[in-house]
Amino acid sequence: MSTVVRPEASEIAVHWKEEEYFHPSARFIGQANLADPAILDRFTEERFPECFREYADLLVWDRYWHTTLDTSTPPFWKWFVGGTLNACYNCVDRHLAKHKNKAALIFVPEAETEPAQTLTYQELYIRVNEVAAVLRDFCGLKAGDRVTIHMPMILELPITMLACARLGITHSVVFGGFSGEAAGLRAADSGSRVMIYGDAYYRNGKLIDHKASADIAVQIAAAEGLTVDKVLVWRRRDGQDLSNTPMVPGRDFYMEDLVKSVRRHKVAPVSVDAEHPLFLMYTSGSTGKPKGCQHRTGGYLAYVTGTAKYYQDIRPEDVYWCMADIGWITGHSYIVYGPLSLAATVVLYEGVPNYPDAGRPWRIAEQLDVNIFHTSPTAIRMLRKAGPNEPLKYHYRFKHMTTVGEPIEPETWRWYHDVVGKGEAVIVDTWWQTETGGFLITTKPALDPMKPGSAGPPALGIFPVIYDENGKELQKGSGRAGNLGIRNPWPGIMQTILNDDERFVRQYYSKYCRDPKSTNWRDWPYFAADGAVLAADGYYRILGRVDDVINVAGHRLGTKEIESACLTVPAVAEAAVVPVVDEIKGRMPAIYVSLKPGVTDVKQASEQVVATVETIIGKIARPKSVHVVPDLPKTRSGKIMRRILAAISNRMDTGDVTTLANPEIVEQIRKQVQGEGPVELQEGPEDLKRFGEQE
Ligand code: WTA
Repeated sequence: MSTVVRPEASEIAVHWKEEEYFHPSARFIGQANLADPAILDRFTEERFPECFREYADLLVWDRYWHTTLDTSTPPFWKWFVGGTLNACYNCVDRHLAKHKNKAALIFVPEAETEPAQTLTYQELYIRVNEVAAVLRDFCGLKAGDRVTIHMPMILELPITMLACARLGITHSVVFGGFSGEAAGLRAADSGSRVMIYGDAYYRNGKLIDHKASADIAVQIAAAEGLTVDKVLVWRRRDGQDLSNTPMVPGRDFYMEDLVKSVRRHKVAPVSVDAEHPLFLMYTSGSTGKPKGCQHRTGGYLAYVTGTAKYYQDIRPEDVYWCMADIGWITGHSYIVYGPLSLAATVVLYEGVPNYPDAGRPWRIAEQLDVNIFHTSPTAIRMLRKAGPNEPLKYHYRFKHMTTVGEPIEPETWRWYHDVVGKGEAVIVDTWWQTETGGFLITTKPALDPMKPGSAGPPALGIFPVIYDENGKELQKGSGRAGNLGIRNPWPGIMQTILNDDERFVRQYYSKYCRDPKSTNWRDWPYFAADGAVLAADGYYRILGRVDDVINVAGHRLGTKEIESACLTVPAVAEAAVVPVVDEIKGRMPAIYVSLKPGVTDVKQASEQVVATVETIIGKIARPKSVHVVPDLPKTRSGKIMRRILAAISNRMDTGDVTTLANPEIVEQIRKQVQGEGPVELQEGPEDLKRFGEQE
């Protein structure tokens, strides 16, 4: 409990002006996948859970299921029980009859001088089969095994994922920008004896030696007790060494060599149970250790296919480009599995959005005739700042645009709509999480008006709720912020945290569970760890995380994870990490450390902190600032008051600090961070007002 007096979260009223509605064009509505409001009658609470048959029926099943939802062991829900299918078959093989000569994937290298590469569905089929043959026959992998994939954005990444899915191997893709250390820890947690790498990639014009991470990952995994037998390496350019890191004989193998011996081999897709784990995706939570969110095959694939079809309006004739990295959940659900299941043409871009200039995305859109676009508020802010009029110079035409990952300010939304979408494209602001598999709150693009800054009404078959800290439901239009929950299960929800069922229950269900003995799903609402407000019109506005997670450029970083990294620096005695507002990235970490007695070189210590965070986690965790302070503010029981540090970093009111064990330190830190003179206090965004309240 905090010893500092402050209002309850649920009592914080949220003040902002209501935004105007924007309506989809008649042209969009006329062609939309979801244009008939009768769908609302099919997805009412009375029709739950059978309503989700409609999504499952978009797939090809080898054996049809007998039970849509099994609630016998809550909250470990089972979907489409008794059914069997193969995810790779659904994303590749089934399209060959009609679409084999259509582009499945188009790879756009970062350098504009390098031509794009296209794979048709037939070519994708051949390549996936060859890789599956390598995994099965050379590596001896089979259904139920786990493999860690640490690769940049190249064609071979989705090819490798689909090859795993073909065999029922559970893949765990680690974002390419994470360090070798981070990949090694995740490989160890998942028990992956095989790791798959890319040798190198281009980012911001620089060639990055990615193979170097493999050696670190294997070493870290070994320290955790896991032997990685094989490292398979995809070369960015066949036959060329772009990486300077030597191959380790007997452990490292070039995929191009292995594939040569299985040219045109066919591997029958393995029909797996609907509940068979398709993949793991590690994400940050409120402890130092990232957790492996495990997703099932049937429910997940049904959910991402249904939502990509209805909310992103994807069809085989569309060219769809999502700028996210496949190494995040967005890339899994809405670059690989959803769009390929719908036989779309999917663009993969290797590099950063503004390379070599802010016109690049719009040139790609023009050249490839992209008509459905998907990106994050951070990318939109960045492109807007760097080239506010660039989109107008290019002749592309988007019918639809998605935004995801962070709250989008109405100002930024309007630029996205007016300039990027040329006032014509419809926008969906989709709220969801790694854990949820797919979109949970979004407008139905042809049916609901858009409201800048609000994600919108719940997705079909999803019944959200906003609770105060005591589990009391906040009514719509109350103007009060509370904790967002989902009252019912849905097919895209994760199955569990790998190796930690207990944490799964504690983290997502304990808070609002009404009766731990009940097998009625109504007693088990899902706790999302996000703050939200529900307007009178039924639209949800998402405020941000209520736990120890910082949303940096739409990516989740645990403050505890960063703190653990800081504490490995020998000079550091204590560390606290708090979110600070950043104009482009939304939030960034600010690090406060105190040093061990006798350590005097402050500059060296802060440089070590930055370098260590980058090595242990990755460059995305680079702090906005590091403050070396004499002591951290603490309660009398010795708890570090991160909330006060967040208030200082963001020039917000620190509240009453007189009950702290060391109240005088607050003013000292404030001066150090904000300067000597008086500072104009900011009201601060809602998530920061709530930051640290769980402490
Ligand atoms: C945030 C990304 C506001 C939220 C798909 C959530 C959003 C976290 C939105 C999940 C949105 C996601 N508006 N905030 N449209 N979408 N978030 O697991 O705080 O990387 O809990 O999944 O991102 O991040 P994750």
